[in-house]
Amino acid sequence: MPPEPLRILVVGATSAIASETARRYAAYGSRLFLAGRHAERLQAVAADLRARGAAAVETAVLDVTDHGRCQEIVEAAWSAFGGLDVALLAHGTLPDQARCQESAEQAVAALDVNFVSAVALLTPLANRFEAARHGCIAVITSVAGDRGRQSNYVYGAAKGGLDRYLEGLRNRLFRSGVAVVTLKPGFVDTPMTAGLRQGPLFVSARGAGAAVHRAIERRRDVAYIPWFWRPIMAIIRAIPETAFKRLRL
Ligand SMILES: NC(=O)c1ccc[n+]([C@@H]2O[C@H](COP(=O)([O-])OP(=O)(O)OC[C@H]3O[C@@H](n4cnc5c(N)ncnc54)[C@H](OP(=O)(O)O)[C@@H]3O)[C@@H](O)[C@H]2O)c1
Repeated sequence: MPPEPLRILVVGATSAIASETARRYAAYGSRLFLAGRHAERLQAVAADLRARGAAAVETAVLDVTDHGRCQEIVEAAWSAFGGLDVALLAHGTLPDQARCQESAEQAVAALDVNFVSAVALLTPLANRFEAARHGCIAVITSVAGDRGRQSNYVYGAAKGGLDRYLEGLRNRLFRSGVAVVTLKPGFVDTPMTAGLRQGPLFVSARGAGAAVHRAIERRRDVAYIPWFWRPIMAIIRAIPETAFKRLRL
């Protein structure tokens, strides 16, 4: 039996990973509400999803650093299909760590887009889902949030803060029957990592998008993507701080 079509909100819908996940939902006739920064790119993703079987696709332009607009978009998405089954937050940027060290403004902007904006979205989303006593909130954080490293601790702090926030939210929403899924990719080949040299730990956006879909459907609490990042990060977290601070990571 094919899975039931669902009502899905995707924020950062033009993300390479999220658009691959959305394709999986489109394939069995789901309805999708796509929010993202660029109208034209959103339209292209929407057309792709319609062609792949989505029953309905709505779009809304949203810069997530406009926190007031985040609330409006949640309300618009909720009304569009008479409620939601899944909300996937996928927006994010990989900031330049050196620039963040030089400029407080850059560091704060990186924390906003990667953490604060998610809180602006999750606050109304959590209240809606809690009242409905149904559904799933899924958020893409990163393995980078598992431990602070000199090479990217501003991004790591944002994703780590988000990780802790989601832990608490999961604890709160559990009794309402609402799942909160924390997704932690490692290296994925997407526009975000275009400037990085690719090594053997890189996976495709397609593979990561499929893993996100699986984790949501299985209502996983925390999913490392791919799975091998779980033992890798367990080892990295286990290194004592006295030794860790001496490493060039
Ligand atoms: N790629 C990796 O190796 C990797 C690893 C761990 C975690 N992640 C996380 O995975 C998620 C998806 O990233 P990706 O790899 O798929 O990269 P991507 O294709 O570059 O997607 C990033 C998305 O975030 C959106 N975005 C950035 N700033 C925004 C803003 N102010 N308002 C609205 N949307 C904004 C981008 O919109 P535009 O298209 O308009 O720029 C784009 O849709 C991110 O949360 C990222 O941190 C990625």
